[in-house]
Amino acid sequence: MPARNPVPALLAACAFTAGGALAQTTPKAGDEALGTQPYARYERPAACASCHVDIARQHEQAMMSQAYTHHWDEIEYFELAVPHAEKVAKVAGVKAGCNGCHAPLAFLAGDIPPKPPSAGTRANESVSCDLCHTIVGFHGEVPVNFNWITEPGRVKQGPRPGLVSPHHETRENPFLRSAEFCGTCHNEMDAWGLYVKSTHLEWREGPHGRAGIVCQDCHMPPAPGRSARMGSELPDVRQHLFHGAHDPGKLAGVAEVRIHPEAREAEPGDTVRLTAVVVNAKAGHKIPSGSAEERVLWLHVEAKDARGRTFHLAVDSKGFPGEEYTIASATALAYQDIGDIRGIPDFPGLKRDGTYAAMAEGDRIFRLPYLDPQGRMTISQWNTAAFSTDYRLAPLAAVAETFTWKVPGDAAAGPVTVTASLHYSRLVSSVGEYLGVPAEEWEPIFINDHATTFEILD
Ligand code: HEC
Ligand code: HEC
Ligand code: HEC
Ligand code: HEC
Ligand code: HEC
Repeated sequence: MPARNPVPALLAACAFTAGGALAQTTPKAGDEALGTQPYARYERPAACASCHVDIARQHEQAMMSQAYTHHWDEIEYFELAVPHAEKVAKVAGVKAGCNGCHAPLAFLAGDIPPKPPSAGTRANESVSCDLCHTIVGFHGEVPVNFNWITEPGRVKQGPRPGLVSPHHETRENPFLRSAEFCGTCHNEMDAWGLYVKSTHLEWREGPHGRAGIVCQDCHMPPAPGRSARMGSELPDVRQHLFHGAHDPGKLAGVAEVRIHPEAREAEPGDTVRLTAVVVNAKAGHKIPSGSAEERVLWLHVEAKDARGRTFHLAVDSKGFPGEEYTIASATALAYQDIGDIRGIPDFPGLKRDGTYAAMAEGDRIFRLPYLDPQGRMTISQWNTAAFSTDYRLAPLAAVAETFTWKVPGDAAAGPVTVTASLHYSRLVSSVGEYLGVPAEEWEPIFINDHATTFEILD
């Protein structure tokens, strides 16, 4: 097969506007690729595993090989997205569209909706080897909504020139080394034209994007070894780890916190102000990123006096618009659109901030609230008509939160220890419990903590 360059962005962009004849000569991408490639054009991961052993075993453990079969994906697609798409014309596109990223082979084959994971169809291959390694470029100017261009066949796109394989041809394609490659699925725009997933855009605006440190550098770091059993020894084989929010080890310490009091001594009844500084020190995008609609990341501060009595400290309000969504409430309800989708009249909603033992009213939540067409918080990113203030942790930036504490008159004299801790939950627990999602998906994960002390005088 002749070598071919990634489709130039400009040419691809005109194809959208020119329509007609030109559009037909341009490879189909995004929504237009629905039903254009039968399953049989793609090889199964098992066909690659016999030679690319380590890469195959790594990929099996990564979420992208389970993007269609994972329990929560199955529940959200079949119990919320599909019924909603069948009921409301505005969101009808997601019945097929979710699969463009989660079950791309089924989308390309036009197998919509795919059979559930238990049926064992090729939809289950999720984001597979042959899907990624036959992507030649993307269509348009911004990578979004699976607008990659696929050319299945004997030629596998890879990062290196001139490699020889007994099973296939290889072609060096710099597109695979770019963040835009990942952005084709890691940016998502909904029917209201909002970027409801923007990991690549967050990265592009941040210090890592500006420095050219791409997604692959952190999620596919290089190690010496062979990429195939019969391949040559290389100093820098790209590891297919792709671990993120589903790896407690990746999350551990991913955000840091330090806390200090404004004075080291106080009398009972005095007011002491403490400042906690929180830093996203390790991610190349915001935390949370991607599925931000369902994540909860919060800062909890507690003081313990010399007799071991504990007091919870509520965060000081900053007064920005939408701040109410970022301060934990024990009573606020949200997610009422789940009732609309499931046809439950007068559904009151579910606890907005979940039900976590490690959270108390007044804790700061770092989040981007997604609002449905009625202005209520939603975990249905496809049903998002507006956002409130983006109060997530930007990469390599710090946020200072203050806590003004009136030391109780009966607090014990002696040292008091104030601890600030960060916790994370992948899916707001109230929603997880209500929809029967296994607890491993929503149980809180400890991220980090730090403690400081000051003296309560007699
Ligand atoms: C019979 C063994 C064999 C099978 C099966 C096989 N490959 Fe390969 N592949 C190789 C060898 C050997 C190389 C060259 C490795 C080297 O020289 O370091 C290679 C190279 C590659 C490269 C280029 C890597 C680079 O650094 O640019 C990609 C991409 C690739 N294979 C993908 C696949 C995919 C996807 C499948 C399954 C659809 C597959 N391979 C199946 C043996 C195989
Ligand atoms: C999500 C997309 C994606 C999936 C799924 C994927 N790969 Fe890759 N693969 C990449 C990218 C991107 C690179 C190049 C990274 C770089 O060099 O920056 C790569 C690199 C490779 C290489 C060359 C590694 C090196 O450094 O020499 C081989 C071989 C390969 N992949 C095979 C496979 C096989 C086999 C599977 C399935 C078991 C697979 N890939 C699944 C995206 C993917
Ligand atoms: C500097 C290293 C670094 C870079 C660059 C980077 N990431 Fe990450 N990524 C991380 C860390 C650390 C985490 C774990 C924290 C988390 O889940 O938010 C993470 C998490 C993720 C998650 C899970 C996020 C969530 O909240 O569910 C996704 C998806 C992801 N990265 C994709 C990408 C993509 C796509 C790019 C490129 C556009 C990228 N990453 C660039 C380090 C990086
Ligand atoms: C064909 C679409 C597609 C492409 C291309 C793609 N991803 Fe993903 N990625 C997904 C989907 C879908 C998920 C969600 C999996 C799930 O359901 O949990 C995901 C999840 C992830 C996660 C999160 C894992 C976790 O623990 O939560 C990381 C990290 C990630 N991808 C990194 C990358 C990187 C880096 C690239 C580029 C080299 C890339 N992806 C390219 C579709 C894609
Ligand atoms: C443009 C690509 C794209 C589309 C379209 C898309 N997703 Fe995703 N989805 C992703 C990526 C990428 C992730 C991982 C993000 C992360 O971990 O931060 C993800 C994560 C998820 C998760 C959460 C898994 C987890 O990490 O906790 C669920 C559930 C999910 N998607 C369901 C859906 C449903 C249902 C639809 C259709 C309404 C849909 N997705 C449409 C790319 C997409």
